[in-house]
Amino acid sequence: MTQPTLFVCALCKFPAAESGAGDTPGGQHLIDQLTDCLQAETSQGEITLQPVRCMAACDRACNAALSAPGKLTFIFNGLSPSQSAPDLAEFCRQYAATANGKVPYGLRSPAIKQSTAYVLPPLSVEEMAVAR
Ligand code: FES
Repeated sequence: MTQPTLFVCALCKFPAAESGAGDTPGGQHLIDQLTDCLQAETSQGEITLQPVRCMAACDRACNAALSAPGKLTFIFNGLSPSQSAPDLAEFCRQYAATANGKVPYGLRSPAIKQSTAYVLPPLSVEEMAVAR
């Protein structure tokens, strides 16, 4: 079984249209929300939530990526720090249940459809071996 990892930029700012939570960056606020939502939506340890420091798309905050060996990689931007966590957690559950990461488009929430910036193919077995 390949365990998916959800990478989320902890440093992304709140968009101008959303109010912040004190000094907490929007990305960290999203991570905090995701921690609760992933516990509710997925089995213990089914998804690894990995905070990262800047994904080089600061002007399209909040940013995240979902990946697993042998599966598609989804790159998200424009995620709402205060509203995206339930949809993202649900998508993580759907993604984990697939063999290749291909969650049917019709099953994706409107927020996920809107925030999906890129979808990358899985690395081949040979490419994964070279990467190690
Ligand atoms: S601060 Fe989040 S992508 Fe740069």
